Amino acid sequence: MDFSCIILAAGQGTRMKSTMPKVLHKVCGRALVEHVLTACSGTGKPAVVIGNGSEMVRGLLGDSVRYAMQEQRKGTGHAVMECFRQLDIDTEYTLVCAGDMPLITAQTLQELCKRAEGLGACVLSACMDNPFGYGRIIRNQDGTFKKIVEQKDATAQEAEVREVNTSVYVFRTELLRSALKQITPANAQGEYYLTDCLEIISREAPIGVMCLDDPDEAFGINDRVQLAQAEAIMRRRINCGHMKNGVTLTDPDNTYIEAGVSIGADTVIYPGSYIGTGTVIGSRCVLRGANRIENSVIGDGVSVEASTLLSCRVGDGTTVGPNAYLRPGAVIGRKARIGDFVEIKNASVGDGSKVSHLSYVGDADVGSGCNIGCGVVFVNYDGKHKFRSVVGDRVFVGSNANIVAPVHLADGAYIAAGSTVTRDIPSGALCVARSREYIKEEWADKLRASWEEEEK
Ligand code: UD1
Ligand code: CA
Repeated sequence: MDFSCIILAAGQGTRMKSTMPKVLHKVCGRALVEHVLTACSGTGKPAVVIGNGSEMVRGLLGDSVRYAMQEQRKGTGHAVMECFRQLDIDTEYTLVCAGDMPLITAQTLQELCKRAEGLGACVLSACMDNPFGYGRIIRNQDGTFKKIVEQKDATAQEAEVREVNTSVYVFRTELLRSALKQITPANAQGEYYLTDCLEIISREAPIGVMCLDDPDEAFGINDRVQLAQAEAIMRRRINCGHMKNGVTLTDPDNTYIEAGVSIGADTVIYPGSYIGTGTVIGSRCVLRGANRIENSVIGDGVSVEASTLLSCRVGDGTTVGPNAYLRPGAVIGRKARIGDFVEIKNASVGDGSKVSHLSYVGDADVGSGCNIGCGVVFVNYDGKHKFRSVVGDRVFVGSNANIVAPVHLADGAYIAAGSTVTRDIPSGALCVARSREYIKEEWADKLRASWEEEEK
């Protein structure tokens, strides 16, 4: 079957108390509307109805969708009217979905599309323990669909109904188009309700109702409390997916993995890690402690402890942390070691190299098999400009050395501890750049003796 897809996203979402439109708030690292778009994928280029904060929505979604502008927010029916007025929608069926229901799944939408075949429309419903606030599905005596009544328009008896409208529908496009011409804002909210189209269409063709097995899918976000509830449900779903793929989460309730993260089998994640969208983690890794890992690619057999990794790459078999900070552009090779309180920024560290303690490596390319001692600083900034240093393979940099960029330490060079290096060092050479010790025998003894004299 041939489908168009319309996503309603023009509302401000007043109850969010935000300067940002509601559909841009995030659940597990993705905007509400992005989750809905993911579920709708496979229905052609979706049409998104925008209004409040439209530039911000365009900024996020770009050219991946078509837009219809709803200047005045006159209700869900009006939003769809604007869409038909502004865009070319000529498919036999049209899927309409609200942009604020991030838990809806592709599987459900596909099923709804299938069920709609041959009907005037098919509406997705859910049975809720607490249906307050939702539109209710009102059925005829024989169980067939009669109409949808909004909370504010419901009689006491109608408000008893627990089956609610999820705001997801598939319509026969022609029937929807003509029904939209007949709806009026004669209701408690003075809005054009999309829901009224169903009763109108039912006079010409049968209306199907598909009830969700899992009412969570219908969860619509109106405020920040619901946003957090959706986050918790989505997080559980994501974590279950990883566990089913062979990842061990020792405490899934305290492991935070956003949407769009890939993790290999036999990786073990202890509680406290936060792993952001776009991150790829290999197999057999171990993550301990409170890591924050975003937009990074981590190989197989990597161990990371209590560290922050942002837009970086870490090769197979490397260990990171505890308390390391890999900033954007850090590229760490295989079987390397990035130890405690080490910061790496826009720099590469080659295979088997060790930066074990308390160092800053910024704007540098460090080769393989190097040892960067404790407390080494790559001095990359003169107060205005940044410079880059290059370190060859098998270079030894003694503890507490300063490498003042731009310098080149050639293969096998050896930098004495405490040196401040400002010139290039040839291959295999020793560089000692510090003053010699000055030792004065008995000097301290004499000083103390003079102090004792003073006290007498
Ligand atoms: C709507 C349904 C209700 C359903 C509920 C499910 C109607 C009349 N009611 O109510 O039956 O149970 O969703 O969550 O449809 N929007 C626009 N333009 C508008 C109005 C709304 O784009 O003029 C968008 C909003 O941005 C939002 C979606 O439509 O994404 C739903 O709007 P909302 O105001 O939240 O509808 P509800 O009152 O919750
Ligand atoms: Ca809503």
